[in-house]
Amino acid sequence: MRLENEVFVVTGAKGGMGKETVKRFLEEGAFVAAIDLNVDGLEESDRLLPIAADLTDEDEVEKVIRMAYEKFGRIDGLLNIAGIAQSATPIEEVSLADWEKIMRVNATAPFLTSRAAVPYMKKQGSGVIVNIASISMVRPRPGLNAYVASKGAVVSLSQALAIELAEYGIRVNVVNPGPADTNMLGQFASEGADVDSIKETIFRKSVPMGRLIIPSDIANSLVYLCSKEAAIVTGSVFNIDGGRGI
Ligand SMILES: NC(=O)c1ccc[n+]([C@@H]2O[C@H](COP(=O)([O-])OP(=O)(O)OC[C@H]3O[C@@H](n4cnc5c(N)ncnc54)[C@H](O)[C@@H]3O)[C@@H](O)[C@H]2O)c1
Repeated sequence: MRLENEVFVVTGAKGGMGKETVKRFLEEGAFVAAIDLNVDGLEESDRLLPIAADLTDEDEVEKVIRMAYEKFGRIDGLLNIAGIAQSATPIEEVSLADWEKIMRVNATAPFLTSRAAVPYMKKQGSGVIVNIASISMVRPRPGLNAYVASKGAVVSLSQALAIELAEYGIRVNVVNPGPADTNMLGQFASEGADVDSIKETIFRKSVPMGRLIIPSDIANSLVYLCSKEAAIVTGSVFNIDGGRGI
């Protein structure tokens, strides 16, 4: 097992990528605090602590990280997977409220969770943070203005933290998924569009390797980045995208 008895906080734990990641990390011997807006169906055990929380709320974030520490006694890793999509919208029709909501969930929440978890990692002298951004920050699609900007912020934050935290033995990396077969994918379509046909004609066809990314592709990359095999990897951006970013 590659993550035996290590403790991870996983956000977006009920989503497509998050659920698979929680499962994989448990299989690799980890303890997991699994956070999402709603954690119905995730059962608490000696290895799994499901916590319902809104990660845009500063106090809730402090509380969930503390709960994870109190249950498991350390925090080895933080995986920021939670996120929301943007329905493709011309810039002149994007409301300030929509812009701020997308920035708050996709960029501010990883700032809040990192700020809350880093003190525990500093005390241990080790830790790993992996933030899920998106290949769209390298190759944007029209109309995803706020989403792409939020993911660009995540990459810059991650690299800023990688340099700041290296001396404490804390690694910070990014995974940029390509178009992935989860509930979120259809939410990028513009209003009224035929989601199934767009999945095929726009998203799958945009991947040089010829298939959509699946949650286990992402979970595999996270296991590697959190394992000892990646002990010297920090500040890197992994494109798990079938070549979409080329
Ligand atoms: N699906 C794709 O094509 C794709 C491509 C590139 C990047 N991504 C990114 O991958 C990550 C995972 O996406 P997914 O495809 O699994 O999507 P998903 O919609 O299946 O999962 C996202 C999860 O985040 C949770 N979440 C949203 N707001 C939250 C909040 N305020 N507090 C707590 N939890 C919250 C949701 O409840 C949901 O369970 C996201 O950051 C997304 O932006 C997805």
